Amino acid sequence: MKDPAVEIENLREELRRHEHLYYVLDEPQITDAEYDALMRRLRQLEDQFPELAAPDSPTQRVGGKPREGFVKVRHSSPMMSLDNALNEGELRDFDRRVRELLGGAAYRYVAELKLDGLSMAAHYRDGQFVQAVTRGDGTVGEDVTENARTIRSLPLRANTRLEAFETRGEAIMNRRAFDRLNAGRDERGLARFANPRNAAAGSLRVLEPQITAARRLDYFAYLLLTDGRTAYDSHWQSLEELSRMGFKVNPNRRLCANVEEALAFCAEWEARRNDLPYEIDGVVLKVDSVEQQRTLAFTAKAPRWAIAFKYAARQAVTAVEGIELQVGRTGALTPVARLRPVEVGGVTVARATLHNEDEIERLGLEIGDDVVIERSGDVIPKVVRVHALGSYRRKFQMPSQCPVCGGTVVREEGESARRCINTNCSARLKESILHFASRGVMNIDGMGEALVDQLVDRGIVASVADLYDLTAGKLLSLERMGPKSAANILRNIENSKSNPLPRVLTALGIRFVGERTAELLAEEFGGLDMIAAAGAEELQDAPEVGPKVAESVFQFFREPRNQELVNRLRAAGLRFEYQSARPSGGALDGLTFVLTGTLPTLTREEAKRLIEIAGGKVSGSVGKKTNYVVAGEDSGSKLAKARALGVQVVNEAQLLELIKIG
Ligand code: IVH
Repeated sequence: MKDPAVEIENLREELRRHEHLYYVLDEPQITDAEYDALMRRLRQLEDQFPELAAPDSPTQRVGGKPREGFVKVRHSSPMMSLDNALNEGELRDFDRRVRELLGGAAYRYVAELKLDGLSMAAHYRDGQFVQAVTRGDGTVGEDVTENARTIRSLPLRANTRLEAFETRGEAIMNRRAFDRLNAGRDERGLARFANPRNAAAGSLRVLEPQITAARRLDYFAYLLLTDGRTAYDSHWQSLEELSRMGFKVNPNRRLCANVEEALAFCAEWEARRNDLPYEIDGVVLKVDSVEQQRTLAFTAKAPRWAIAFKYAARQAVTAVEGIELQVGRTGALTPVARLRPVEVGGVTVARATLHNEDEIERLGLEIGDDVVIERSGDVIPKVVRVHALGSYRRKFQMPSQCPVCGGTVVREEGESARRCINTNCSARLKESILHFASRGVMNIDGMGEALVDQLVDRGIVASVADLYDLTAGKLLSLERMGPKSAANILRNIENSKSNPLPRVLTALGIRFVGERTAELLAEEFGGLDMIAAAGAEELQDAPEVGPKVAESVFQFFREPRNQELVNRLRAAGLRFEYQSARPSGGALDGLTFVLTGTLPTLTREEAKRLIEIAGGKVSGSVGKKTNYVVAGEDSGSKLAKARALGVQVVNEAQLLELIKIG
């Protein structure tokens, strides 16, 4: 048998290497499933040999227990902010001052992107990550160590001989994660985050590390300090060193010989900023030589050797000419402002979302008003505030009938959206099809808006299941459709049948069931029919599934129209069974357990983990599928039910015997 200590260390090394490849270098070499399998094996071993645990193990990213509050920590040296240059003239003024203060010596600048997030210091000792602190007021920040641990691009172990060092850098949320976070919040009727920076700050400063983990933050390091001072002679060299140590350092940086080159860098990135997956609000210029930085020194609040060249905010003022309504997949009516077209950051904007009626109220907006609009992480720009009241203002009224189908519109308690409740509404249907076919769901390439509009408007498709009955003949009757595109679409539809169960489940568009919940449900129940048959309480056996989600899933499968949809999708040949990525070969493979009462040595959580590691499942209620009930002291109704159903009852010792670790 292998030495577990050696296997554990090898697994950690392997996982660290893949994390670096994936999160820092963006060059994955293995699939997510392979990565998950390695991680699971490591967890299993660490659970089995708790004495071999280590704080810098890749398993330690999932975040510890919630905290009561944040501890205040004094920074090793002040975390300063930067002076701003708002235009070329101000940047040249800064350069002139630098030149004068350096008395004619040659100097260079390092130009870096100014990432729009929040600054955070990360401390390491003997190569291990030990503490993370937010900027706070610059002198004292908040200890966010447990939350920072969940940021995958922040190495828990750095490749260095330095005994102690600190990085300073920016924690950010990329646009995709931001859009996804807000979409989820819309679904649940929660307030949206205004921009990725607020979302990043809100996610790092939560008391539950699990929340930070789910929010997918990223960290770019831009300073390397030892004892609160810059560690190398040149800033450029520090950045290279940070990168070599395993940190994510923004690759879009340049060593500039003079201010002209620096200005060119600023202009270049202003034009390209939309191509980046995250937000920037300018460029930071730093004098490269650390000796020269010392000569230039600091003012009371900022270094004299650095400056932030700020891009103009992507905002503009324009008039709201009208408010239109969009009907979404769930029937939610979203008000959208029709604007007098205006250019914002190089793009002409004619519409801006208003999210819901509460938002219109909050803004105090009426049709005819002038508003400030902003383009940030969202694809659709948003209205920030009313700039001036219109001379002819008109209040907007949310309708009580759907603007598309005339169906009834209701606003349920605790929800911010009004919804059209007609499940036959063509707008809802179109959105459902687009969701079903979208990338990351069923991936039916070519099934875009123009095609879906035609398919629905001509009555060819009245349910997503009809997609699987499409023929070349039906498609060729449409406008702008040649034999080649028709064949492509039919092939893509055919290929979509091999998507795994979690995608099928996501595609159904059940409220609150996104990618992750779908995975967890599939993993727990093993098949669509089992999920559809499960009671609301049983559904909560799946990890992270609470009463609200369970109720939504339960109700979905009780609706006859949905049952018919599911049957038609089954007949079309979609995958309803789940091939688990869990390793098999455990002693309890395929067995279902129910825990009841107090066990003599194990907590319920521990018992559950042991069972799961051995390949078994733990369910909350006793039923026909239950293989064993593990009973401790004070077992109540579950024990009685087990006896009534003839389910085998075991005690803790017998359980351990089954797992073969007694
Ligand atoms: S250096 C003493 N580099 O901008 C130098 N800051 O307005 C301290 N920021 O608080 C900062 N990207 O949060 C630096 N590449 C970068 C940056 C950057 C974003 C932020 C940082 C800082 C703020 C100053």
